[in-house]
Amino acid sequence: MSVTRARSIAAIVVAAGKGERASANGETEPKQYRLVHGIPVLTRTIRALLDIPEISVVVPVIHPDHAARYAALGLADDRLLPAVTGGATRQSSVLAGLMALGKIRPDLVLIQDAARPFVDAKLVHGVIAGLANHEAALPAMPVTDTIKKAPDGINVVSTEDRRVLFAAQTPQGFRFPQILSAHMRASTLPREFTDDASIAEWAGLRVAITPGNANNIKITLPEDFERAERMIAGAQAMET
Ligand code: CTP
Ligand code: MG
Repeated sequence: MSVTRARSIAAIVVAAGKGERASANGETEPKQYRLVHGIPVLTRTIRALLDIPEISVVVPVIHPDHAARYAALGLADDRLLPAVTGGATRQSSVLAGLMALGKIRPDLVLIQDAARPFVDAKLVHGVIAGLANHEAALPAMPVTDTIKKAPDGINVVSTEDRRVLFAAQTPQGFRFPQILSAHMRASTLPREFTDDASIAEWAGLRVAITPGNANNIKITLPEDFERAERMIAGAQAMET
């Protein structure tokens, strides 16, 4: 008998934000529904996850005002669950996705930003591998800039040691029961967490960093669309 058991892996794609910073130039379409090289950002992100055979289900979490936009993407796949409605914060949107997996109860769950369409299998496999010895794993990049601390935005109080600093990406991976429980407890606090690994840290789980990818950018600002287009054009030029 095999000593290793295949673990079921679900993915949550949080897409319930308004994308306000990316619309600072007057753009009206929310960033996750805008096209990058002809394909909507959210379609790219969901397809990238569905392309990974180890992922058994994908749950999209969308804004209540975006149901028609989501339907218009025309996504259909046996492993794609119906979209659920998110909340006013990223944290509450993730909790909605976790609750939607309550009946399936996967072994592991990957939590992915819709705004990171360049997630790839290598990065995801690194996160899954990280979960063998840790209770949570997140892809991250070493920080290359020198980081200054200036609480008021002007007066520098210290310089961080960047050798110990990493910039967090997604997908972040967890054991499903642990992160569901941690998220439920975190939801009762007055504070807001900006990623899921920080909820795991708060809950006392062992969190590992796994290799990030410089291409795994989060589309955040208007200029990130130009960068995304250039990245795809560059990748296509390499192929031909
Ligand atoms: N997100 C979400 N629910 C929210 C807020 C954010 O599902 N209430 C999702 C976003 O759709 C995005 C991811 O969380 O895919 C990361 O958030 P961010 O990049 O900050 O996106 P927005 O919150 O939409 O953008 P902004 O902060 O500029 O308004
Ligand atoms: Mg936001």
